[in-house]
Amino acid sequence: MLGRLINKYRKHTLIAFLLILIFILVNQQSYDPKIDATTPIELLLASPALKASNATTTSGFKTQEAQINPSNRSFYVFSKNCKIPQPNIYAEEIMSMLRPELDIQCTKEPDLVSLRFNVTTRLYSLHINMEVGAQLKPNISQFACFYHEVFRAGNDSYSGTRGPRYFLQDESVPRHIQGLIVQCHELHKPLNVIQRDAFALVQFPASHEKPDRLRDTYPSIIILGIDSMSRMHFKRTMPETVKFVSQPGWYEMEGYNKVGDNTLPNLLALLTGRTPHQSLDICNVKKPGCFNQLVYLWNHFKNAGYLTAYAEDISSIDTFNYLKRGFDRQPVDFYLRPFMMTVELAMTTLKHFGYPFCIGRRLSFYYVYEFCEQMVKRFISETYRPIFGLFWTNSYTHESYTGATILDDKFAGFLRRFKKLGLFDHSIVILLSDHGYRYGPLVELKDGYLEERLPMLHIYLPPWYRAKYPKVSRALRENRNRLSSVYDLHLALKHVLIQLRPGIEFDRDVGCPKCRPLFKKLPRDRSCEDAGIKEHWCTCQPYAKVQPEFFMEYLAKMVVYRINKLMRMKQYENICYRLQYSRLDMAERKLHFDDGGNVIGAPQGVESYRLKFDTTAKAPQTSLKKLVAKFRVTIKCNRDHLNGVKIHLPFISRLDSYQSETSCVHERIAKKFCFCMDAGAANLAKNTSQELEDTSLFHEDEYD
Ligand SMILES: *[C@@H]1O[C@H](CO)[C@@H](O)[C@H](O)[C@H]1NC(C)=O
Ligand SMILES: *[C@@H]1O[C@H](CO)[C@@H](O)[C@H](O)[C@H]1NC(C)=O
Ligand SMILES: *[C@@H]1O[C@H](CO)[C@@H](O)[C@H](O)[C@H]1NC(C)=O
Ligand SMILES: *[C@@H]1O[C@H](CO)[C@@H](O)[C@H](O)[C@H]1NC(C)=O
Ligand SMILES: *[C@@H]1O[C@H](CO)[C@@H](O)[C@H](O)[C@H]1NC(C)=O
Ligand SMILES: *[C@@H]1O[C@H](CO)[C@@H](O)[C@H](O)[C@H]1NC(C)=O
Repeated sequence: MLGRLINKYRKHTLIAFLLILIFILVNQQSYDPKIDATTPIELLLASPALKASNATTTSGFKTQEAQINPSNRSFYVFSKNCKIPQPNIYAEEIMSMLRPELDIQCTKEPDLVSLRFNVTTRLYSLHINMEVGAQLKPNISQFACFYHEVFRAGNDSYSGTRGPRYFLQDESVPRHIQGLIVQCHELHKPLNVIQRDAFALVQFPASHEKPDRLRDTYPSIIILGIDSMSRMHFKRTMPETVKFVSQPGWYEMEGYNKVGDNTLPNLLALLTGRTPHQSLDICNVKKPGCFNQLVYLWNHFKNAGYLTAYAEDISSIDTFNYLKRGFDRQPVDFYLRPFMMTVELAMTTLKHFGYPFCIGRRLSFYYVYEFCEQMVKRFISETYRPIFGLFWTNSYTHESYTGATILDDKFAGFLRRFKKLGLFDHSIVILLSDHGYRYGPLVELKDGYLEERLPMLHIYLPPWYRAKYPKVSRALRENRNRLSSVYDLHLALKHVLIQLRPGIEFDRDVGCPKCRPLFKKLPRDRSCEDAGIKEHWCTCQPYAKVQPEFFMEYLAKMVVYRINKLMRMKQYENICYRLQYSRLDMAERKLHFDDGGNVIGAPQGVESYRLKFDTTAKAPQTSLKKLVAKFRVTIKCNRDHLNGVKIHLPFISRLDSYQSETSCVHERIAKKFCFCMDAGAANLAKNTSQELEDTSLFHEDEYD
């Protein structure tokens, strides 16, 4: 290769090569960080002086360093301590991957039974559409309909049904019933089923409070969540919804950075304001009932007179239930989980993107958003009672980076319906995600680390609230391009409670002591540490690409060695194949700046590297498929003290989807590192994992 080059460019190449060699040798001996102190950042990044840093002397930098020239590169945040570059959202390499998905219609049949609500009596009734019956089964002249009531049993693992109970045309449904599965059949022939359907009900509480006094002073808080949606990907895939949230009253937070790997730590931080560590101090999530011991925003809002609601669309991966025990006591007034669990079992489901997509006649997503719509109707348009609700959808986006393209018009459709119902006259609405796409092609792109770490966040303030609290809208405008985290959002919602009840006191033991309510101006020059964001998730510090060299390969191999050691310690060695280091894909080194924005050496010589590498599973030769796993890891180390290198487990990101290969283990950490050996071992793994069940999600241990 070198020979060919020399032949081609002859003298020039040779001279350049010699110059570089001399340069490296000279700089190896005479590195002095002070030389850099006065050079502007932009120049430095392109300048050879930077290449002389100790950590990279063997082979130097590639020329394509991170460009942080504000004049021709846009930033979401640009301050002394935080520079978050704005990638090209619509880059051809990404847009070409976004082929629209095939949309799925769950049924073509019209509704045989529909749910009605009488505003006077505040009771639901069931209406049988006779013409539809005749249309669906022309031969049947008479039919009968019954329902099963769905109810929540003692805990999150069980829900039950009662019935059947036959009903007459327009018969009222008793007020205690939260969910129904309805079935109509030919009269006297129960097996000749005409149609089956399921409805979640939002029943008006029996209490006789006069809610109207709260009107226009207590804003409802509606949090709408779309899983795994980065700010960039939202713009790419959901243009209609983007248009909706670009209307007056909406504020986008462009410097919003995630604080944990997956859904739970980020959502728990939103709801409790605590880090996973702090939550663990209170109780062990392995034990049933633990989640009931934490205090959530919905508890505070309930104390202030709100009704509370929480819904997700795929019960098997509900945030508090995936590999965990969920709630023993029902956490909110209106809780969709028991209903979703039952309908997933009782109705025919169609899987798409890896999870139940159609449940019976509806999209699983529809159950959540129709539930939200009913909350809005019952409490915001029909009577006024403030609500605090969290409505989360996983079904389109959890496993697919293209799913959002077919979610867009449905999602925007719901927002428009909510608007007609008056939601936006009264409520603070928050549209957010927990994190961006965490694996797959998007994170493998050059700017993949931004994709993973910058979830979308859009906040809507109703007109009366903006008029009453002009400071809040001013602060949100200012904060758009400041670094923010979910802890600030948590404090913002507490701030709303303080506005309602001045003097109210909250627990001071919070996850991020330096965080500020997002509804107040955030400090202009914030660091990730100030915002409670750990280095691995932090997008503030530019990393410069460095040529992968022996030393970085050594670090990557050390990570693989320690992963294998951990798997052995946790007794997964007979269940999952050992991983083998195969290839270093990319290496980056963190840049450090002084107060003037000049590049300096790493403090105490502790460098941070971000490595992207591949491993293969050490499977028998007979295995046909090559088992490759891709990882990204952030490592801090001092070259002179390699024994002390600490690797934090959560700071290892698995970049490819691993759902399919890891069904034999149930612990999250093990899933990240496992290629299952075979089905026989799968059983054993189940039994092992019962003891170990989820020591994982919360463990931020390092292992040496
Ligand atoms: C940024 O500007 C510099 C100098 O003006 C130029 O050399 C460089 O190519 C530009 N980078 C990009 C990405 O446009
Ligand atoms: C609601 O119920 C009341 C009392 O039973 C009844 O008079 C009224 O007609 C009902 N309204 C509707 C729209 O069915
Ligand atoms: C319905 O009627 C048609 C003809 O009118 C007949 O061919 C069909 O078998 C009938 N179906 C049932 C389910 O009875
Ligand atoms: C959940 O409730 C069911 C039925 O009430 C009970 O059998 C089961 O032991 C409970 N599980 C836990 C973990 O508490
Ligand atoms: C570079 O290495 C030299 C000698 O090994 C050491 O004296 C100096 O402090 C190092 N500089 C940095 C920035 O690590
Ligand atoms: C796992 O546990 C179940 C019962 O808990 C038992 O029937 C089964 O044999 C165990 N499997 C293995 C491989 O030990």
